[in-house]
Amino acid sequence: MLVINSKLPKIFYGGDYNPDQWPEDTCDEDIRLFKLAKINVVTLPVFSWAKLQPSEEVYDFQWLDRILDKLYMSGIFVCLATPTAAHPAWMAHRYPDTLPVDSSGRKATFGRRVNFCPQSKTYRHYSVKIAELMALRYKEHPGLVIWHIANEYGGSCYCENCLNAFHIWLKEKYATIEHLNKCWYTNFWGHTYYQFEEIALPSDLNGDNECFQPLLLDYKRFMSDSVLECYLGEYEAIKKITPDLLITTNLMGSFKELDYGKWAKHLDIVSWDNYPGFGDPYTNMSASHSLMRGVKDGAPFMLMEQTPSQQNWAYYNTLKRPGVMRLWSYQAIAHGADTVMFFQMRRSLGACEKYHGALIAHCGHENTRVFNECKVLGEELDYLGDKLLDSKIQSKVGILFDWDNYWATEMSVGPSRDLKYVKHFEKYHRAFSIQNIPADVVMFDADFSKYEILVAPLMYLLQPGVAKRVKDFVACGGTFVTTYFSGIVNENDIVTTGGYPGELRELLGIWVEEIDALPPSKRNSMVMSIDDSSFSKTYDCGFLCDLLHCEGAKPLAVYGNDFYKGTPCLTQNNFGKGNAYYIATDPEDDFLVHFMRKITSEKSIAPFMKVPLNVEVTQRIKGDQVFTFILNHNDEAVEIDFGKSSCTDLITRKEFKGVQTIAQKDVLILS
Ligand code: GLA
Ligand code: ZN
Repeated sequence: MLVINSKLPKIFYGGDYNPDQWPEDTCDEDIRLFKLAKINVVTLPVFSWAKLQPSEEVYDFQWLDRILDKLYMSGIFVCLATPTAAHPAWMAHRYPDTLPVDSSGRKATFGRRVNFCPQSKTYRHYSVKIAELMALRYKEHPGLVIWHIANEYGGSCYCENCLNAFHIWLKEKYATIEHLNKCWYTNFWGHTYYQFEEIALPSDLNGDNECFQPLLLDYKRFMSDSVLECYLGEYEAIKKITPDLLITTNLMGSFKELDYGKWAKHLDIVSWDNYPGFGDPYTNMSASHSLMRGVKDGAPFMLMEQTPSQQNWAYYNTLKRPGVMRLWSYQAIAHGADTVMFFQMRRSLGACEKYHGALIAHCGHENTRVFNECKVLGEELDYLGDKLLDSKIQSKVGILFDWDNYWATEMSVGPSRDLKYVKHFEKYHRAFSIQNIPADVVMFDADFSKYEILVAPLMYLLQPGVAKRVKDFVACGGTFVTTYFSGIVNENDIVTTGGYPGELRELLGIWVEEIDALPPSKRNSMVMSIDDSSFSKTYDCGFLCDLLHCEGAKPLAVYGNDFYKGTPCLTQNNFGKGNAYYIATDPEDDFLVHFMRKITSEKSIAPFMKVPLNVEVTQRIKGDQVFTFILNHNDEAVEIDFGKSSCTDLITRKEFKGVQTIAQKDVLILS
C-alpha cells in the first residue's frame, strides 16, 4: 500500500498552524486541543520567513525546533512547509528586484504574499537557501512526514528581468525570429519582429492585452514555467537531502494562471485547497476534486486546506451549516483524497484572516459547535485508520481538460465574450456526476486507452499530435464527444485551414461553415430525431450555434428556429470501430444528462446505485475491496433502497439492507 509516510499510515487530519502568532506557551494548550480533536498532523511554518531569517545574515530555527519537538512528543506529525510564499521586509527593501511589476508597469511595494518576481535572482537564491537549511536541519526529525513548498503559487510579473528571461525562453522555443514571426502570424497589423529584443511583454496599454493571442499565450506559458522554476529550485534542494520524503505544494483547483497539468509532473503528490464559492452546487466540487486527481493521472491526492466553517475573503462569509464540513470532508475522500486538512488551526487575532474559520476560535476553548464537529470527524477518521488509503477511483469515462485551451478560449476575441472554459467543463462533468457515473478528468497528454468514453468540451486548441491520438482512440472502439468551438486552432491560436473543426473534421464527419453567437436573451432549440423514449422531443440551446454540413456523419437533432432551422446540431459519425459525436450548440443541462446516459449505457456503464437526486455515490477500490461512498447533499433525509444483501457502514459499523432513511448531510462508506 502506498501511503504518504509509513510513520503515519492514516488519513492525515490537521492543517495550517501558525504558532509564531502567539506566545510560545500557547502551543501547550493548542496541543491539548489537537489531541482532543484527534489531529495527527499540522502544517507549519507557512509564512514564517521573517522569523526564521530576521536579517540577511541571521537564521533562527530554535523556536521552530522547540515547537516541532513538542508536537512530536505529543504524537503530532508535521507537514513541514518552506516559508517562501511571503518574503521578509528586509529583503524587499534591500533587493527591489524581488518585488514584481504589474502589466501597467507599476512596481509593487512590500506587503501581501506571493509578492515576488519569479525571475528575481535574489528571491530564487534565498528561497532555495532556506529550503536547503530546513532540509539539513530537520532531515532526521522523527515528526517530519511530508514537505510543503511555499503556498498557493501564482502571480505574474512584467519587469525587465522577466522581459529578458522571456526573450531567452522564446529563443529556445523558436530558434529564429523568422520562425517566431511565422508561428505567431505577425504579418497581422504589421507586427513583424526583426530581433527577439523587440518583443515587448503584454501591456495594459496595448488595448486590453487582446490583440495578439500568440504572444499572450506564450507569455502565460512562460510565466507558469517561471513560477515552476521557483518551486523546482526548492524541490531539488530538498530532494537531495531527504530523497524518501514526498514533496508537494498546494494547488487551487482550476486556478487559471498556472498550467497544473505540467506542474503536477513535478509534485510527488498533488495537494489542493478547496474553497467553493457561495452557493456552488456540490457537483462543482466533485469536478474540482476530479480535476485535482486528474492532473496526476488518478493518483490519490491531499486535501491540504478547507475551512472548518466560514471563509473571510468572500463577499458574504456564510457559516458551514451543521454537518456540511463533515460531508465535504468525506466528499474529498470519496473523490480520492487521503487527507483532510484545514486552514487554520487557531484563529488569528489580527490582520485579514481574523474572521476566517479555525479549529480553535477566538474564545480559545473547545466548547464550540465547530470544534465539536471537527472532533467528531477526527474520531471517525482515526477509527477508519488505513482502510481507505491508496484505494483508487476507476472510471471508464474521461473528460478532457487543458490549460492551453483554458487560456486560449478565454482570450479569444470573438465569437462570444461568454467563453468561460471552466463553466463548460463543470457542466459536462455534472452530466455524469449528477447521475453517479464516475468520470475522471484527463489531461490532453494522458493515456486515453484506459477509457471507453472521452468527452472534450471546448477542445478549441489542438497541440500537435492530439487529434491523431483522439482518432486512434475512436478507431479502436472508443466513443468521443466534442462540442462547439473545437478543433479550430493550432497550439499558437492560428486557425487550421480547410474548414472547421480542422484536424477533427474527418473524425467527426462534419464541416462547420459558420458559428452564430447568441446573446443570453436569444435562444434556439434542438429538435431530436433519436428514437429513444428517454429523450425529450426538444431541448433549449443557445450561446454558440454552429451551422454545419454532414460529411458522412448522421444528424441526431436539428435546430428548431432561425434561418438555419432544420440543419443539424447534434451528429454522430462512425469512425473505425468507434463513434464520434459533435454537439454543435450549448444545450440545457437535461439534454446532457440524457445524452450521457445514452452513450454510457451503450457501453454498459451504469450508475452505481439508484438514489434520490443530490445523493452522491462514488467508489474507491483497493484490490478486491470496494468502498462505496453515499453522500446526502440534500437538506432533508432521503430513503435509499440498499437491496437484499446487507452491507456495513465503515464509519458507524451499522448494517444497511432494504429501504433505509439517510439523514440530511449524512455520509456512509459501505463495504
Ligand atoms: C488560502 C491560503 C491560506 C489562507 C486561506 C484562507 O488557501 O493558502 O493561507 O489564506 O486561503 O481561505
Ligand atoms: Zn519580474
